[in-house]
Amino acid sequence: MFIAFFDRDRINFLSHYLQSQHGFKCKGYFSFIKQNPVPQARKVKFQNGWEEAVMLQKPDGKLTFNYENGQQPDYIILPICSGNERTEHPTQKPLKAMYPFIKYFTNKNDLILDPFAGSGTTAVAARNLGRRFIVMEKEPKYAEIIRNRLNNFNTKHGKPNAAQISFNL
Ligand SMILES: C[S@@+](CC[C@H](N)C(=O)[O-])C[C@H]1O[C@@H](n2cnc3c(N)ncnc32)[C@H](O)[C@@H]1O
Repeated sequence: MFIAFFDRDRINFLSHYLQSQHGFKCKGYFSFIKQNPVPQARKVKFQNGWEEAVMLQKPDGKLTFNYENGQQPDYIILPICSGNERTEHPTQKPLKAMYPFIKYFTNKNDLILDPFAGSGTTAVAARNLGRRFIVMEKEPKYAEIIRNRLNNFNTKHGKPNAAQISFNL
């Protein structure tokens, strides 16, 4: 599967491009709805209260969908990241926003790639659910956050079983 949170104004173009030019199949869209969106400082438009991801099956790719996890709507309603989980990354997603993708579309020990890792939420979520991962982040200060999260956060899950943090400087 290819899953991307993307600019809401352009996400359909991305989906259409990957389907028409590269043979991907759209498996739908998924919304992360924020219970407490950031206030609009300039007060000239609505608060931005949701983010959208597109889910595409790769050409000739096997589709894993673990329906035994139960029914899951194509949205999740959560507060934005706060408390112990929060890092300095400005667009950090809550771990709970990533769990549905990982639980339904992958099996234990599958390998997950996130080439735009930010604070490393995908890596931490993958590690917590027993999946392997490769993450990439170009900003050294964010890569450091990833290292710290993998080393310190939620240590009951132990150290990553396979991690590669790649610096693209
Ligand atoms: C929207 S943020 C991802 C946030 C992440 N989902 C989280 O929960 O923290 C995208 C990240 O991609 C990184 N990035 C952008 N272009 C990149 C590139 N060419 N290679 C690696 N990382 C890149 C940015 O520095 C940014 O931290």
